[in-house]
Amino acid sequence: MNLAWWKQSVVYQIYPRSFMDSNGDGIGDLQGIISKLDYIKNLGIDVIWLSPVYKSPNDDNGYDISDYQDIMDEFGTMKDWEELLANVHERGMKLIMDLVVNHSSDEHPWFVEARKSKDNPYRDYYIWRPGKDGREPTNWYSNFGGSAWEYDETTDEYYLHLFSKKQPDLNWRNAKLREEVYNMMKWWLDKGVDGFRMDVINFISKPEIFPEGDPKPGKKYASGSKFYRNGPHIHDYLHEMNQQVLSAYDVMTVGEMPGVTPELARLYTEESRKELNMVFQFEHMGLDNGPYGKWDLKPLNLVEFKQNLTKWQKALEEIGWNSLYFNNHDQPRSVSRFGNDKEYRVESAKMLATLLHMMKGTPYVYQGEEIGMTNIQFESIDDYRDIEIHNFYHEQKEEGISQEKIMKSIYVKGRDNSRTPMQWNSTNNAGFSTGTPWIKVNPNYTEINAEKEVSNPDSIYHYYRALIQLRKNHEIIVNGGYDLVDEDHPEIFSYKRTLHNQTLLVICNFYANEPVFTLPATILYKSAHVLISNYQQSDGSLGEQLKLKPYEARVYLLTGA
Ligand code: NOJ
Repeated sequence: MNLAWWKQSVVYQIYPRSFMDSNGDGIGDLQGIISKLDYIKNLGIDVIWLSPVYKSPNDDNGYDISDYQDIMDEFGTMKDWEELLANVHERGMKLIMDLVVNHSSDEHPWFVEARKSKDNPYRDYYIWRPGKDGREPTNWYSNFGGSAWEYDETTDEYYLHLFSKKQPDLNWRNAKLREEVYNMMKWWLDKGVDGFRMDVINFISKPEIFPEGDPKPGKKYASGSKFYRNGPHIHDYLHEMNQQVLSAYDVMTVGEMPGVTPELARLYTEESRKELNMVFQFEHMGLDNGPYGKWDLKPLNLVEFKQNLTKWQKALEEIGWNSLYFNNHDQPRSVSRFGNDKEYRVESAKMLATLLHMMKGTPYVYQGEEIGMTNIQFESIDDYRDIEIHNFYHEQKEEGISQEKIMKSIYVKGRDNSRTPMQWNSTNNAGFSTGTPWIKVNPNYTEINAEKEVSNPDSIYHYYRALIQLRKNHEIIVNGGYDLVDEDHPEIFSYKRTLHNQTLLVICNFYANEPVFTLPATILYKSAHVLISNYQQSDGSLGEQLKLKPYEARVYLLTGA
């Protein structure tokens, strides 16, 4: 296969705070990660994506950076980081870092300077506006609730923060700021990092004037996202970054892009445009959102889910490239969300993995996904740590919403679902820490843990290993065309991949029912065998009708069409 390495790779995301604590302070750290690299390597992983490890006051767990070129004290030192990189490389893996440059921390020296006076040389590194009629410059809400503008008394102006007020947005219109960012990126690349995951990178280009948004009935604040997502100069900035920094290195880039459409994703990832390699899109993650957004719960409609993922597969089939994910540190656990985390936890986790890993694109595995970790339900709001959850809780309380309704939303969608400590074994604190973990461990760790998974050949972990191995052994998985099969079936997600004279047929039952799959007459083949399945298949042949078991997944390799 003559393809870029990142098209043939599988990525593992580490959320360092919750991965492995080596010194008993209850917080995961770099030495902890080093101690688990063999576990990751044995899974078959090619690339590790490290969520932020930079200096940070941790208002948003490291996504608020006060020094881009230093390491957070709780995580270790620069020496530890260098040791981590060397150890990753020694094992033949690559390391990509999180690049968080839509905003910095308000404790970053640039912002400390900027807020001192209107003529401070750093003032224009951020976005300042005077108030309008005694209130905020616009009615936009922040993504973490409340206004997106914070009043700063010293200079009697407001600054923009699309996330928490401790995450002021950087002003990308300022060429000096852009140069500082590019120099910082080069500094990390020269240290040997293999690329970047870019945090909300399609938010960096703000409009020249800031219009009002349309509030939903009864709401004070409105979304400003149509003005700042994929803004006026976004392609110029990404192209400039590519030309000034990335093009000199053999690295991979993935841009996190809420609100990106397939049409835009083609522009961001078309090779000849020299912007990014791939993006994280969010459409499939929004299909269980009601009209009021993520906390407004709505059941998933499988047909919509199929149509959506298919739209992305087709849109980036020839131009650009897809990233494939169901989990990350901002999303609930997929086995609880789309599968069944009770009696069919193992089957449904394997089914979801099959569905994702047989698609075209670069798959991402989020820590704990490979052992089927589940959502958490803390009784008390005090046990939650996420700023987004707390802001949501307090706003809802003020609006008089019932405790039960608020907690239901948090149980289903809260980000802490995926941030409980990694479950390594059945000892105290799941083997994550000898101290008191910064967030409570999911009590199901005695049942669900890595040690148990690794020692059981039928486990979810070994199933992920097998899927990853299949991608390495079969070009059709990396490179084959994609087509949805039986698009209207309400319970089965089936698709085929084709390359030369081969067809890969993927059949996934999304529910605990036992539906019948009918082989379309258009699928012709001479021989068939099962490549992988989450149930024992007594015989590898493919009949015209298959009765599927709960959450059953089967992948057939058909030859000689
Ligand atoms: C997206 C990150 O994934 C999320 O964790 C963070 O809170 C926001 N961007 C702000 O940086």
